Amino acid sequence: MEHSFSVSGISGKKEQYEEFLKMYSGLIEEERDATALLANTAAALHDAFGFFWIGFYMVKEDRLVLGPFQGSVACYRIAKGRGVCGTAWAEAVTQLVPDVDKFPGHIACSSLSRSEIVVPIIKDRTVIGVLDIDSDRLAAFDDDDRVGLEKVVELLVMKL
Ligand code: SME
Repeated sequence: MEHSFSVSGISGKKEQYEEFLKMYSGLIEEERDATALLANTAAALHDAFGFFWIGFYMVKEDRLVLGPFQGSVACYRIAKGRGVCGTAWAEAVTQLVPDVDKFPGHIACSSLSRSEIVVPIIKDRTVIGVLDIDSDRLAAFDDDDRVGLEKVVELLVMKL
């Protein structure tokens, strides 16, 4: 299997996500193992968009626990309602944070992280994990990212 997850030749973020989603649905089609799917989702998003940190935290008992990711080492466990990830879990709504320093309780895994988007992964009306993406630039994410990444998570959750 060979996949090149480049969207760099495409102008416009919406168009880039559209192209990504086509390639991504092919990537996950044949696999059923959750860890394998999460790992390749993180790698594909990292390859395509070059995110500073991209990864998953999955709900295990009363914590979000670090899952497959691309980037530097990160915090292992996050409580419900804590930080951006814990808030996405508690509220079951995507968190778009243009400036992490202005988000009460933000958990700084890296001091270089400036903005963040966290999409909850919801299965059978329950949050089972979150997709967390950090940027080293302020306000790196907008509504196009939210829509695109929510679609990625929609495809992913059908396989989990
Ligand atoms: N900043 C996140 C913690 C996870 S790291 O960014 C990888 C938060 O506030 O939940």
